This record gives sequence, structure tokens and C-alpha cells, in this order.
Amino acid sequence: MSSDCPSTASGPRVRTAEELRAEVANLEGRLAEADKMALLGRLIASVVHEINTPIGSVFSNNQVAAKGLETLSRMLEEPAPPPKAQQIVKTLRSLSDVDRMACERISALIRSVRNFSRGDGERPAKAALQDVLANSIKLAETSFRNRIAIEAQLGPAECECYPSAMGQVFLNILVNAGQAIENDGRIQVKLAVEDGWAHAAITDNGQGIRPENCGCIFKEGFTTKPMGEGTGLGLSIARRIVEEKHQGRIWFESTVGVGTTFHVSVPVAGPVVKGEA
Ligand SMILES: Nc1ncnc2c1ncn2[C@@H]1O[C@H](COP(=O)(O)OP(=O)(O)OP(=O)(O)O)[C@@H](O)[C@H]1O
Ligand SMILES: [Mg+2]
Repeated sequence: MSSDCPSTASGPRVRTAEELRAEVANLEGRLAEADKMALLGRLIASVVHEINTPIGSVFSNNQVAAKGLETLSRMLEEPAPPPKAQQIVKTLRSLSDVDRMACERISALIRSVRNFSRGDGERPAKAALQDVLANSIKLAETSFRNRIAIEAQLGPAECECYPSAMGQVFLNILVNAGQAIENDGRIQVKLAVEDGWAHAAITDNGQGIRPENCGCIFKEGFTTKPMGEGTGLGLSIARRIVEEKHQGRIWFESTVGVGTTFHVSVPVAGPVVKGEA
């Protein structure tokens, strides 16, 4: 019997530990990517809503501007333009200012989505962690619909890191914080560098984590949210990104009925890459 395929007469080849490790790393990478896309997917309705409002105002301003221009062009045909022409020009100028602001809001939001969905390279790269965190805040707050006040104090934190993965960590924590706040509330975000570590703290005044759940929240698949709302993947992936990918630390403090703070620390110099230590 002849075949181009390798012989399997001796049964499937036993894979080496190295190969299995590579496969696990590959699967973990794909799981993290799926979590990132799911996060974005869940936010997309609120992002679209946020974009729709300024677009609505650009549209209605455009109708007013078109009418104003028509009137203005008729007036210019008269030998002496009436004083009302000046008034119309003034209105058109202010409409164009409002439109510019609306377009800036839309393009900032689109930029945030684009920054978030961008992938990381194979190796860590220099990035401004304060911009990464600000980007995640911008995306998260679209889903807060003005019910949550965000106070951010972000100091400069240039880091060797995987910026897209760090954005995913922050967004997961911020979305959790928003979900923990039932009605109105507040989220405080701080970022600072100390002793070679960039340290972020995200504090909410939500329901807090019950003591019996404190040991479980980083476990894959652990969720207290109803079916369809939570998959229980967010924090397990965040832990892997912070602790394995960046050799950093993630931990929390929580009091039921008072709120929760998540801390994330990563080395400014970046993770020590194998073989370069
Ligand atoms: N800020 C917080 N306040 C209160 N509980 C929290 C907070 N952050 C996380 N938790 C608890 O930790 C659990 C696990 O969080 P994790 O982000 O891993 O999963 P999830 O939010 O339930 O689902 P997913 O993130 O996959 O949508 C949550 O279900 C919740 O019980
Ligand atoms: Mg979550």
C-alpha cells in the first residue's frame, strides 16, 4: 500500500511537552482574542448610540444651514443686502462650530474602537499606559449612559508592554465596575509610576464581592451574573495577561455594600523575555 501521508501504523505520535505547551499557549491566545472581541461586541450597541446622537445633530444642523444658505443667496441678489443677512451668517457660523464638535466626538470614539481592536506584536513595545487606560475609559463609559461619574487621575506611565492586551485588562475591570453599580455611582481611576512599577487602581462604589466569592473571581468560568450577561472569563484572562504576559500583579480589595478596588501593577521596563535575562 502506498500513500503520501505519513504512516500511522505505530499509532498517533506522542507529542512532546514542548509541543503541548505551545498548543496551550496558542489556545490561551485565541481565548483572549475571543474575550476581546466579545467585550467589544457587547459595547457596540452603546458605541453606536453614542455616535448616533452627534450624527443626528449634524443632520439637523445641515438642514437649517441649507435653508439659511438659500435665503442668503436670494438676499445677495438684492441691490443692498438686508441686515438680516448678517444674522444668518452668524447662525451658520455657530452651526458649523457645533458640527465640528459633534464630528470630533464621533471621530474620537471611532479612534478608541480602532485602538482597542488593534493587535499586539510578538514582543512588548513602548507605550503610554495612560493613553491605553484613557482609551478603555472612553469605551467603557459609553455603556454607563451618564449614570456613573468617572474621576480619572492618570499620571504619565511609559511602559514596555503589550498595549492592546493591557487595554483589554482595563476594559474588563471597568465593565465589571459598571455592572457592580446598580443605579448611580462613581468610579475612580488612578495611574502612577513608583519604584519602576506602573500602578493602576480602579475603585467603584458598587455592591462589593461577597467573602465566599473572593477566592473564585479569577477562576475561568466563575460568574455571579445571569446567563447571557457574564461568561466568567474576563478576570481569568486579565490575570493571565498581567501576571504571565507582563510578570505583573493583579489583586483587589472589596467590602460588601461599600465597593471594590482592583489594582494592576506592571514593571515599567517590561517583562523579562526568556533567553534575555
Ligand atoms: N468590581 C466588582 N464588583 C463586584 N463584583 C465583581 C467586580 N469585579 C468582578 N466581580 C465578580 O467577579 C466575577 C468574575 O468576573 P469576570 O469579569 O471574570 O466575569 P463576569 O464579569 O462574570 O463575566 P465576563 O467578564 O466574562 O462577561 C463576577 O461575576 C463578579 O461576581
Ligand atoms: Mg467581567
